[in-house]
Amino acid sequence: MRVRLCHLHDLPDGGSRGFDPCEAGRDTILALRDGRRVYGYLDDCPHHPGAPMAWRKDAYLNGSGTRIVCHGHGAQFDIATGTCVLGPCFGQALTSLNLNVDEQDDVWLRLLSAWRP
Ligand code: FES
Repeated sequence: MRVRLCHLHDLPDGGSRGFDPCEAGRDTILALRDGRRVYGYLDDCPHHPGAPMAWRKDAYLNGSGTRIVCHGHGAQFDIATGTCVLGPCFGQALTSLNLNVDEQDDVWLRLLSAWRP
């Protein structure tokens, strides 16, 4: 099963955005765009599982846009791998999601049937 998240142009290049594909009432995944490449992770910090990471809607990046940041305690994650490179969960990683961009520039999330936020 797959879910359309948005059009590529709805994601700012070099920016981030949260989504609620399972209608949980809060953003449960985050997407980050680098040109035509889109990375996706569960919005679920490994330091405190279940803790939302953005400090405000769609704000998942540090000031320079080079790392994902959890507002809880400042953990920083590599955008391409989701691995924590600084902070209390150093070496742990965000749960990566399978996002892809089709030929119409729609961004899709492939859901595992058992996954629920
Ligand atoms: S909850 Fe994310 S760094 Fe502590």
